[in-house]
Amino acid sequence: MENRLKFASKVGLIAATVGSAVGLGNVWRFPAEAQANGGAAFLLLYVVCVFLLGVPVMLSEFALGRGGCSDAIGSFKNLGAKRGWWAVGGLAILASYIILCFYMVVAGWTFEYLWQSVTGVLYAPVEGLTDLNGQFTYRMKEFISESWNPLINTYIMIGLNIVILMVGVQKGIERLSNILMPVLFVILVVFCCVALTLPKASEGLEFFLRPDFSKINTKVALNAIGQAFFSLSLGMGILITYSSYFPSDTRLGKTAVTVSLLDLLVAVMMGLIIFPAVMTFHLEGEGLRGATLVFITLPEVFAQMPLTQLWSVLFFLLLLVAALTSCISIAEVSIAFLQDRLHWSRVKATLAVLLPLLVFSSVCSLSQGPLSHITLCGMNIFDFLDNLATNIFLPLGSIFMCIYMGWFAPRGFFRGELSNGGSLSVPYFGVLRFILRWVAPLLIGWILLSNFL
Ligand code: PHE
Repeated sequence: MENRLKFASKVGLIAATVGSAVGLGNVWRFPAEAQANGGAAFLLLYVVCVFLLGVPVMLSEFALGRGGCSDAIGSFKNLGAKRGWWAVGGLAILASYIILCFYMVVAGWTFEYLWQSVTGVLYAPVEGLTDLNGQFTYRMKEFISESWNPLINTYIMIGLNIVILMVGVQKGIERLSNILMPVLFVILVVFCCVALTLPKASEGLEFFLRPDFSKINTKVALNAIGQAFFSLSLGMGILITYSSYFPSDTRLGKTAVTVSLLDLLVAVMMGLIIFPAVMTFHLEGEGLRGATLVFITLPEVFAQMPLTQLWSVLFFLLLLVAALTSCISIAEVSIAFLQDRLHWSRVKATLAVLLPLLVFSSVCSLSQGPLSHITLCGMNIFDFLDNLATNIFLPLGSIFMCIYMGWFAPRGFFRGELSNGGSLSVPYFGVLRFILRWVAPLLIGWILLSNFL
């Protein structure tokens, strides 16, 4: 336990954890939620969810991982958890692997769009289609439902993940995050500057930042909680695994607040970019949700701006960085498990986790096209796995994690971790424990049930 490899620096540890948190959730889920649910009113609610629920659950995962000093299952075991508590870690590993299968496919799409932006193919006219929306809709449908092209891109991403992860935690994950996270922030700042000088920037900002509290209801509140958990990468064992690489002097409280603030900052910056852009180019009626936003609406914006290709390349680079650093964090959960439980070498564990994706991710990818006739609960395989993992496994895992840390963890363990063995004061401990014991399990349980009602 003592000689477990750790992140080499505080900055590296934060960069890697923020890299996991900042992903498609910030770029393509948050703006859509904000648009549909009352702009700044949703933002306010979201901020409350992040700090009231997200940070406490993040702190439990951090304490579990650093104190247990192992993978998601091993950390529970090392703490002497009895009566099958380790199964919570098992559920997290399963959820993370399922997410990995389809997240890799989406990461592949971002790679293809980056490539098409570099070569300019994305903006070449499509015969018979004169309007931009029709053109980009056609391009996206054509690409995503084609059998070979998305597969090739998925394989490229799998290869890239293998290379990075094989190199290890310090030299692979940490070093990569140290380079890519600043790149991501620089690109975001550039886009913010450009977006805020667009002709209709103020109207866009007003739309985003004017709170419409009439839109807030219980469903919206549940969305905000779900969005906070997804965006902070909670409930999937990712933060348990990453924090098992935290050195013993890392201040967990400060780290959790920093990571959450940076993740929030990226979400807000995306709002500051997207709303002025869609207002200026009169695209506010278009889809701002998920794939439509990034693969159709934003290319429409770029096509109408000078330096089209430059913006397009920068944006898809940003998306690729966001997706890649999240992908490696998801894969690390299973790799750490195989290394710690079965004592496999890094290389063997990496290959064992990522090579099967050549099959699993292919199935997910093909389910958007040639295999779309196969449905489970009325959804194609891709959407089914997405729903299963994010709407069921993730909240379930988080609830159990809160209950364990709130009620069952060894006496004094949690406080000991938060205070680094008594050297820091933790005045917030009482509130934190109350949230973990009562507020979080009940609220997350409510989300879970509401998915079935
Ligand atoms: N936090 C990531 C995001 O915002 C989501 C994620 C999901 C990360 C699953 C890892 C695993 O996109």
